[in-house]
Amino acid sequence: MQYKSIVFDAYGTLFDINAAARKSALVSSNSLLKSSWEGLAEIWRKKQIEYTWLQNILNCKTDFSDITSKALDFALEEMALAEDPKLRENLLDLYWTSEVYPETGQILNELNVLNVKLAILSNGTPGMLQSACVSTGINKYFDFIVSVDEVGIFKPDKRVYELVNSKMGYQTSEVLFVSSNGWDIVGATKYGFSTAWINRGKKPVERLPWRPNHEFSKLTQLIDIFD
Ligand code: LAC
Repeated sequence: MQYKSIVFDAYGTLFDINAAARKSALVSSNSLLKSSWEGLAEIWRKKQIEYTWLQNILNCKTDFSDITSKALDFALEEMALAEDPKLRENLLDLYWTSEVYPETGQILNELNVLNVKLAILSNGTPGMLQSACVSTGINKYFDFIVSVDEVGIFKPDKRVYELVNSKMGYQTSEVLFVSSNGWDIVGATKYGFSTAWINRGKKPVERLPWRPNHEFSKLTQLIDIFD
């Protein structure tokens, strides 16, 4: 199958979701943060995603930057790190600027010279996505960077995946949707996209009927589909 467009998830797929906690711990004198930043990052991400699902189910209105801040507050309290307001501010600043995975630039460069359109579809707000894409320099690769704010609901609601056609103009059957989130792959596959799951953590596949068409441990392996 020759895909005409590749639509990427952002956080956890292109942007390293552990970078903020890791970088903060590296320069901090806080021994608790130094020893527990991985746990902090894990709870932060888990709560962030849980809150998007709850917002969808409970029909609430908020955005991903608000959810990201509140999930961080939960994680800091659970890890007994809530007493340091500077730490909170520093972690959020690092999250807004983000860091890409080491292989992100390489694969975007390689795909960029193929006859394929590249786009991002993310839970992130337009402001978050703009700031992260510009500060990491990857904005130049994408024809579209689309936020769920266009429809006011988070993934995996199908109204989000519909944006690929309504905002980008791509035909569902010609799209390869790429995400490192098993649940996002479930939603995108059920919607009708061909999907590639970037399974960096060697996680088991979700026990749901919608399985990825491709599974890779690194983004760079995507190029194999086009060889
Ligand atoms: C995103 C979240 C799921 O970028 O990481 O949409």
